[in-house]
Amino acid sequence: MKIHLVGVGGGHPDQITVQAVARLREVDVFLVADKGSSVGDLAEARAEILRRHVPGSPRVIQVPDPERDRRPSDYGTAVVDWHDARARAYEKVLLDLDPDVVVGFLVWGDPALYDSTIRVVERVRDFGTVDIDFDVTPGISSVSMLAAAHRLVLNRIGGPIVITTGRALLHDIGAGADNIVVMLDGKLTCRELVGTGTWDIHWGANLGTDDERLVSGPLDACIGEIERARADVKAEHGWVMDTYVLRTRV
Ligand SMILES: C[S@@+](CC[C@H](N)C(=O)[O-])C[C@H]1O[C@@H](n2cnc3c(N)ncnc32)[C@H](O)[C@@H]1O
Repeated sequence: MKIHLVGVGGGHPDQITVQAVARLREVDVFLVADKGSSVGDLAEARAEILRRHVPGSPRVIQVPDPERDRRPSDYGTAVVDWHDARARAYEKVLLDLDPDVVVGFLVWGDPALYDSTIRVVERVRDFGTVDIDFDVTPGISSVSMLAAAHRLVLNRIGGPIVITTGRALLHDIGAGADNIVVMLDGKLTCRELVGTGTWDIHWGANLGTDDERLVSGPLDACIGEIERARADVKAEHGWVMDTYVLRTRV
């Protein structure tokens, strides 16, 4: 069975590549994780991408997303278990499809960056029950959108950049990181660094959407505005997705 994993950017239907559109048009059946009503806007963004770029009414199958343990004693094992449960859910749907159909997954941003779809599809393939041949089409990631929105070069001249999560941020700083992209940070962990006087932040929420928010400047001075903007977006949509660059002032 042919499967296309297609990066579709961060939510705006204009932010998808010509190559990704060509791939989407080869697909007979789209599989979409059903994450419940709290992310209705995201489901709508996906639907709009299909309306805009794929002629006709392609078949879409919603696959209920398994519950994830949000307070695990062992984070790594909990994620592996969750991937496994997802893989079983997709396997069940794929087994019901004709092996000749082309299946597509719409992947938020770029499939190579903090997304489990590649791992989950590999896991289904490794179960050995479905004969899978998959490919990946890159998408514009939230990291690229953030950098463009703030007109930033992510690296300093010849220097490294660490891309990490809110969960790992303080550890990475302890290990010497001083130019960092932070994703998946529901707790706004950079608050822990307020008062040190050394960090600048370039923050963005719901990038690429009509409700994009941007704040940029010294962390100590900006944190209040970021907290207010985050709360506003969340109150309005029920969810907020934000990413930021944190770097020491030079
Ligand atoms: C599961 S990761 C997916 C990342 C995605 N594969 C990418 O390339 O951007 C989700 C995280 O990406 C970031 N993110 C995704 N879309 C975003 C957007 N439109 N605006 C701001 N941050 C976004 C947030 O940090 C969010 O917690």
